This record gives sequence, C-alpha cells and structure tokens, in this order.
Amino acid sequence: MDTHLDMTDSLMVPLSIDHFIDGSLLPADVFFKLQPNKYIPVGKRGQASHFRDLHLFKDKIKDKKLQIVHLQKSELKDFVNKCLLSFQKIDVGVDGLDLKFKFLAQSSDLVIKQFEFLGVNSETVESARLLTKSIQEVARQSHSVIELLHRFKDLPGNRASQALCVSTVSAMIAIELGWASDSLLEKVSIGGLLHDIGLQNFPDSLLRKSYLDLTSQERALYETHPYVGAQILRTVPGIPPEVISIVHEHHENSVGEGYPRRLDDGKINPLSKIVGLATQFTELVLPSGNEEPLKPEQAVNYIQNVLGQPFNSECYKAFTIIFGKKKQSG
Ligand SMILES: [Fe+2]
Repeated sequence: MDTHLDMTDSLMVPLSIDHFIDGSLLPADVFFKLQPNKYIPVGKRGQASHFRDLHLFKDKIKDKKLQIVHLQKSELKDFVNKCLLSFQKIDVGVDGLDLKFKFLAQSSDLVIKQFEFLGVNSETVESARLLTKSIQEVARQSHSVIELLHRFKDLPGNRASQALCVSTVSAMIAIELGWASDSLLEKVSIGGLLHDIGLQNFPDSLLRKSYLDLTSQERALYETHPYVGAQILRTVPGIPPEVISIVHEHHENSVGEGYPRRLDDGKINPLSKIVGLATQFTELVLPSGNEEPLKPEQAVNYIQNVLGQPFNSECYKAFTIIFGKKKQSG
C-alpha cells in the first residue's frame, strides 16, 4: 500500500474531492498527498472514481479531513474542460436548478484555480467563457436575486464564489435592462467572472484583511488591482475591449468616488456600471475575511442609505426590480 511516489509539490494542484462524481470515469490520474513532495496514486485515468479508501491514509497525514486530492498540473486544463463540458450537459428542465447551481459553484472554483496555476491565457479564458454559458442560463432561469442568493447560501467566501456571484447578478441586471443579446450578456458575465483577476498575485496577508482594516499603504496597493487586472487581460489575444473595461472599472461609481480613476457616470463603460453594482452587492452579502456578511435586504439598505446609492440609476432600478421579484411575475 505504501508505494508512494516522489513528486514536486509545485507541479501538483490540490482539488476538493467534491469535484469528482462518485463512480464516474476519472479524466486524469489522481493522487493523495502524504507529505511534502510525496504522493500516492488513488485513481487512474479512465477508471471509475471512488475515494472511499482515503481513510486508509488517515494515520499517515496531518489533515484528517481527507477532502483534498491532487492532479498533476499538466493535466489540469484537460480535467477542467472535461468537467465543464459534462456540467454543461446538466439540463435544468430535467435535472433541476439546484444541481446546476452545485456544479456551477464547482466549475467556478476550477476556472479560478486554473488561472491561479496556469495563468491567464487564451486557453484558460476560453474555459471561463465556457462557464459563463451556464451562468447565463442560470441568470435567465433565476427569478430574483434573493432566490439566487438562497441557492448560493452555502458558497464559501472565496474568490471563486465572489466571481460566480458577481457574474450571475450582473447577467441578471443586464437581462432586466433588456440587454439580452448573447454577445452583450457574454461580455457582462465574463467581465463579472474575471473582475478580480488583478488580485491573483497579491499577498494572502493583504487579501485576508477586510478593505476597511487596510492601512493607507495597503489600501493604495489594493486599489491598483483593477488596473493590474486590465493589464493582464490586455496580454491575452481576443479579449473584447468591453471585458477589459469592466475589469478596470468594477470599483468605479457614478458619482466619481470609486477607484482607481475616480471616473463619473459619463466616463464609465455601460457594462462596467452593471458589474460595479453587482460587485458592491456581492461584497456585502458573501462572507469575506473576518467580516460578517449582511442579509440581502441589509445590503440594499446599506447601498441606499450608507453609501447614498452611488451607482448608475438605471442599473440600480433594474437591480431593485429583480431583487425580490416573485416567481409568478417573472
Ligand atoms: Fe475588486
């Protein structure tokens, strides 16, 4: 049993076992980490996935949760694309929206992980584009933001969850505004998914703090992330300019009090106005760092009364219409 292999940690990618459907064929070899640079194979490409035997390693490792397995980095791209394609086949009409949401959350985690381990390039952005097809489908099927958040309630407060939530809420606002062409909706949802891509190389110590707790020096660095993100995307061929604008402007607001450029309503790209509002709302309702999230109604109240509703009025109106919309009126 103890036939462990010497493998370099930097060439391995950790993944939750939730990414594997029990009994489905494994799209890649899967390993369990025993200790630094030592792994043991627990599944072979093409075999059915069963991780029930992981408990056999319980005595050998510190992490007793046994929730994380590893793939070789070179197999990540293939693995993610196979997962995304199979997740896409889930039919909301037959399988239900709940299952679609579960896989959406997992796919979002994979796509963000891919950026982290393989960088931002044409192939990893293509995976993000593939994911936004499912996001658009869910946005069209969701009756209200409250209903959406209810389904997202178990999302961990990580960047993948934030990205997914911003992308879906943005697509819902765009649909309510009547901007339902596939092309516009795709740009809004990709921009929403990639909005914080500029944060990926920032130190964890900075990202764990809430914005209000940052020192002035840390805040100045943090506020460069929209620009950094836009610069990263400019190096990728084929990214629509509107998506770059969304990433650059997702912390701007209509009264010119956002960052990094303090743009006002006349200067902000119309798609960025949507994503800016969705970003602010998501930051309030999803847990992050050690801050307690607000309830959806409290978040709207905060935007309205504490922030003074600084976002584009048409976007905000559309957002309030879909906020608590009842099923029968949708
Ligand atoms: Fe951001």
